[in-house]
Amino acid sequence: MWILALIVMLNILLSIVGFCVILNVIPRFRDMFAKAGLVGRNLNTVEQLEIPEATGVISSCIFLIIMFIFIPVPFSKHLINREWGFPHEEFLQYVTALLSICCMVLLGFADDVLNLKWRVKLLLPMIASLPLLMVYFASYNSTTIIIPKPLRSILGTDLDLGILYYVYMGMLAVFCTNAINIYAGVNGLEAGQAVVIAASLILFNVIELSGDCWSSHLFSLYFMIPFLFTSVALLQFNMYPACVFVGDTFCYFSGMTIAVVAILGHFSKTALLFFIPQIANFIFSLPQLFHILPCPRHRLPRFDQETGLLKPSGFSFKTESLNFIGRLVLKVFQTLGLIRIEHHAKEDENMLQSTNCTLINCVLNLVGPTHERALAIYLLVLQVFCSGLAFLIRYPLASLFYD
Ligand code: UD1
Ligand code: MG
Repeated sequence: MWILALIVMLNILLSIVGFCVILNVIPRFRDMFAKAGLVGRNLNTVEQLEIPEATGVISSCIFLIIMFIFIPVPFSKHLINREWGFPHEEFLQYVTALLSICCMVLLGFADDVLNLKWRVKLLLPMIASLPLLMVYFASYNSTTIIIPKPLRSILGTDLDLGILYYVYMGMLAVFCTNAINIYAGVNGLEAGQAVVIAASLILFNVIELSGDCWSSHLFSLYFMIPFLFTSVALLQFNMYPACVFVGDTFCYFSGMTIAVVAILGHFSKTALLFFIPQIANFIFSLPQLFHILPCPRHRLPRFDQETGLLKPSGFSFKTESLNFIGRLVLKVFQTLGLIRIEHHAKEDENMLQSTNCTLINCVLNLVGPTHERALAIYLLVLQVFCSGLAFLIRYPLASLFYD
């Protein structure tokens, strides 16, 4: 027992070192990013100054270095005493998890540099998760799910999903990476949401350490603790007023890291519970992502030059230019109060303006024009509240559906 405590302590110690390194490295590398043209305009400010983008590559590389240095630690007792044999499967899972995360950092950085198309962005995480799925197949290969109590009379107690389970895990990687990337556009939100999700997962893993599947949760902690520390360090620079943007590199890296521990730790459903705001934003965004409704390049809030506050951003359209589904979706969203539709001032009579279908705009519709700092805090408080809700669903309520 004390060996495990020592291993976790070492993991925390390495994470603290990584945290300090990031705090020192990012200010030094800022000019290098600017010289390389890796910059983005801070769209929610009067000056719209260019600031370094894709600095998530620094935090993700420090994360990977921590994880590489840490590799021998969990296996130390097997390395010292050869008689105990070596846990090859566990080792393979650890190394493949790092391979998938590494691939995603590379692909995310490629996206920041090359501005890839949306269909490519959707495909990348699926490809990066393939090594992981292969190892899952070779080592665990359980594709059976437990059916919730109310459905057992129809479906039985469990159901083997077979290949569909692998499709689900591939889609999980696609979802986690892209859901974080599209819930963005306010200083501190990309890194902030990752910090809240990581902290929630760590709490969940710690609670589950006393359960039967403690080794899977310990495995998750090895990844989540350094991920939390490195993300908090990055957040220091990304919080309002941001002096760096984290870039798609960070969004993909964080989504993949969470997906990897959820898949290998066998708690993907619980992990998804910590993505409630991202799921809501993703579903709400679908009509724009699939171009049923017009989708501008940026859907982040609109900066009001006069007041310095953020207002919901929008898109212009003519009702006759939308197909039946588009009109229906708009009507439903409007009735639910999720979007606001107005006549386009002074222009064509038929031209209408709707707020973009994002959770950020929805919150702005609710609270009115807000300062960027306050909006980021509201959204992160919402994320924390949803994590609380997730724990409520996972523990007291889950007993209603499962034994
Ligand atoms: C996703 C969103 C897009 C949103 C963008 C903002 C979808 C389909 N895509 O696109 O609507 O506008 O993220 O991150 O929902 N920026 C800021 N302040 C911030 C964060 C970003 O001004 O706090 C701007 C900067 O100009 C930065 C750019 O957004 O350069 C980053 O955009 P990028 O990550 O390339 O956008 P996508 O991920 O493609
Ligand atoms: Mg992005």
